[in-house]
Amino acid sequence: MGEQKKMKTAVIGCGMISDIYIRNLSKLFSIIDLVAIANRNVDKAKEKAAFFGIEKAMSIDDVAGDSEIELAVVLTPAPAHYEIIKKMLESGKHVYTEKMFTTDLEKAKELVKLADEKKLYIGVAPDTILGAGTQTARLALERGMIGDVTGGVVSINRNQNLNSELFRFLQEDGGALSYDVGIYYIATLVTLLGPVKEVRAFTAPATVHSKELLYTDEKKESWQIPGSNVVAASLCFESGALVSLHINGNTINSEQNIIMLFGTNGIMKVGNPDTFSGNTEILLAENEWVTLPFTHGYNGVNKLSEPMPFDHYGSRGVGAAELAYSVRAGRNNRCSKEYGLHCMEILKGIDIAADTGKTYEMSSSFEMTTLTPGYYSTVFGGFGRGDAECSLM
Ligand SMILES: NC(=O)c1ccc[n+]([C@@H]2O[C@H](COP(=O)([O-])OP(=O)(O)OC[C@H]3O[C@@H](n4cnc5c(N)ncnc54)[C@H](O)[C@@H]3O)[C@@H](O)[C@H]2O)c1
Repeated sequence: MGEQKKMKTAVIGCGMISDIYIRNLSKLFSIIDLVAIANRNVDKAKEKAAFFGIEKAMSIDDVAGDSEIELAVVLTPAPAHYEIIKKMLESGKHVYTEKMFTTDLEKAKELVKLADEKKLYIGVAPDTILGAGTQTARLALERGMIGDVTGGVVSINRNQNLNSELFRFLQEDGGALSYDVGIYYIATLVTLLGPVKEVRAFTAPATVHSKELLYTDEKKESWQIPGSNVVAASLCFESGALVSLHINGNTINSEQNIIMLFGTNGIMKVGNPDTFSGNTEILLAENEWVTLPFTHGYNGVNKLSEPMPFDHYGSRGVGAAELAYSVRAGRNNRCSKEYGLHCMEILKGIDIAADTGKTYEMSSSFEMTTLTPGYYSTVFGGFGRGDAECSLM
């Protein structure tokens, strides 16, 4: 396992999620050389770069024009993704983007085509699927611990209206719960069960919202988050598994994260897919529930620095690092553009099925291999922590 050439990388976008990416990309993965922070407002990029000790602060155009940068990590809200990803691909860079891929399925397809033509990689969030939680569940399924999965029940709830007072991007396209958070459940389901074949659904919009929080500086008094904020869908997977999916953003914020898969030999509960450390529990006939130990390393625990306010965002960046290793190895990356497109098509398919009252037949598909098991070593005071990174190579 010789040392790989590091990939010069720029982060684009300096908002809330950027801190965890910048810290992890600069310290957690030896394949990444984070050389620049970019933002439409360069002063903000300068601030972040100075705080994290990153060499350069740039505009988005500067990133496109820098021939040394190979990978752009796009951390802007979804409506801005299409233009930025396109610009980066046109300037010959690989891209890893935060969710959603784009807000429009046709535009995502166009980007996939452009990347294919230019032989460039796109990685798409969420990369929580590469975390210890989902990868442990996937390995257990592969090893047949609950037999063949015949069906499942999945549910996630939040008060998306209330959340949209603080997180303004939730008031825009891509802000409804199905896109903002449902995507983690879809991504985890397809990681565990493979591609979806058909979708049926009912949906409801967000209610029109009036300001509730006293101390938010939100200027608007009332708004309606676009898109489907309540979803009752049925997913038929290519494997034959049938899954009931309930996403509800018109309720309270006390999250009930339910992913329960029923197999011919047992039942599996998968923990919160919005984290890297959801526990996998297994129930076999005539037994008690047991929690599996993690078989994989990226469990979201901060082993790099003193505790930071953004630690709870976990191992984000692992998808970008896995992309970099994939480029060097000439293989497909796990959080691939095909995976991103398929997840997005499921969400769009839910809307179309609900609007037409008909079954939506999926046109996209994808393949993904399980990461090699690994763990963070704590020998010599954690000096050997690169063990987990071996699973990305
Ligand atoms: N905040 C979270 O908890 C969280 C968690 C997971 C994923 N994400 C995803 O990360 C992305 C960014 O989220 P965030 O919370 O950091 O957002 P944010 O609003 O805090 O920051 C967004 C950044 O993008 C820049 N930006 C906004 N519009 C732009 C445009 N049109 N062109 C160029 N730059 C633009 C802003 O200047 C800012 O630097 C989103 O895709 C979101 O879905 C956020």
